[in-house]
Amino acid sequence: MKSISSFPPDPTAALSANAVQALREGFSWGVATAAFQIEGAARSDGRGESIWDRFCHTPGKVRNGDTGDVACDHYHRWREDLDLIASLGVDAYRFSIAWPRVQPLGHGAWNEAGLAFYDRLVDGLLERGIQAHATLYHWDLPQALQDRGGWASRDTAQRFADYAQRLHALLGDRLAALATHNEPWCTAQLGHATGQFAPGQRDPQLAAQVSHHLLLSHGLALAAMRADGARCPLGIVLNHSSVTPASDSAEDRALAATHYAGFVRWYMDPLFGRGYPQDPGLPQRPVVGAGDLDLIAAPLDFLGINYYTRIWASAAQPPVPPPRALGVTDMGWEIHPDGLRELLVGLQRDYPLPPIYITENGMAHADLLHEGTVDDAPRIDYVRRHLEALAEARRVGVDLRGYFCWSLLDNFEWDSGYAKRFGLFHVDYATQQRTHKRSAHWYRDTIAQVRGGAAHG
Ligand code: FCB
Repeated sequence: MKSISSFPPDPTAALSANAVQALREGFSWGVATAAFQIEGAARSDGRGESIWDRFCHTPGKVRNGDTGDVACDHYHRWREDLDLIASLGVDAYRFSIAWPRVQPLGHGAWNEAGLAFYDRLVDGLLERGIQAHATLYHWDLPQALQDRGGWASRDTAQRFADYAQRLHALLGDRLAALATHNEPWCTAQLGHATGQFAPGQRDPQLAAQVSHHLLLSHGLALAAMRADGARCPLGIVLNHSSVTPASDSAEDRALAATHYAGFVRWYMDPLFGRGYPQDPGLPQRPVVGAGDLDLIAAPLDFLGINYYTRIWASAAQPPVPPPRALGVTDMGWEIHPDGLRELLVGLQRDYPLPPIYITENGMAHADLLHEGTVDDAPRIDYVRRHLEALAEARRVGVDLRGYFCWSLLDNFEWDSGYAKRFGLFHVDYATQQRTHKRSAHWYRDTIAQVRGGAAHG
């Protein structure tokens, strides 16, 4: 691999002095990944099948017929990957645990080889001076549980709590943070209403019930882990967006309110003790058992927020398109950094927030590997602008504790397969060669700059 210090510093892309100041104290810098997107080794060492394995192997579901069978082969290359993380000089690494790797059927027997993998991974991070932020569920449900109803079944919530309790007992005393779910909106809506993600169901009312079982599983898991003495901060990761009405018209404003209620408040309101919103245009409330809402509203030690873009609300036919003043990413997502500031300030106004981590933010870009490197200036600009937005939110009092760039590596981007690249490191999937992009170098230097030292070479 080309040395990470081989790019010259780029003065035009430096963070502002104000941002450096605002992000200096009490702020962790990190990178993020998720198990299914990088691990591969789908049938190694006793791992069970997940719903994403089944989905990938169903023709027509994932672009190019791509699968997670090999992915970035991180299961075998984790030491090298931890060295890449360390080379960035970050404080923290966010990863997820593959439930079917540690409990192949999602209930009953534990797979010791799978547990040992995460045990070693966490030790490997600590040996390199990197904090471990783990997520229990980043969408890879054991297929055997799906066969029993998956998240549509209330019983899955209890199975998740058992899984959480076991992993907390194993790793909790070495973790800096443990999140239950990643982006339950995606599991519920993309997995069960639009069918774009595993398990590929298309029933909006079912999706509402699934969202409740996901939140219930979060509440049951927190209760189980706290009964065992909560060895680390416990929280959840939500994907949020600001929502902009296309105009001042009553129709656009009403549509924006409905989008915000369905995307943000549907999760935030129950987590903060307000139950499900009942605004017009939302699905009917799910079936909620006695005591469920109290479990869901248990205090959070932290909240993780993933932010990529805003939602634009136009009721016109055809809809008025968003301005896209800063362009779009390779996902087609509008680049709108100020939405991150707006979102955080609004959440701070509306909810008694715990400490916040930005657990994902980053950009898909059609990167080209040229002469052993990738010049991904647009990604640098994307990350820099979002850090400036975070600094502004911090200056007005939002309790932001850290930022995790998505992602460490190019990886399996769900239904887009390997066609979309989000990494700070380029992956050649034929050889598994990792190559740092210019953004990796920039991120390392920016972290050093904020800390007040020079970049280490
Ligand atoms: C988020 C997911 C993450 C990744 C990014 C691009 O919604 O949590 O796994 O796919 O989007």
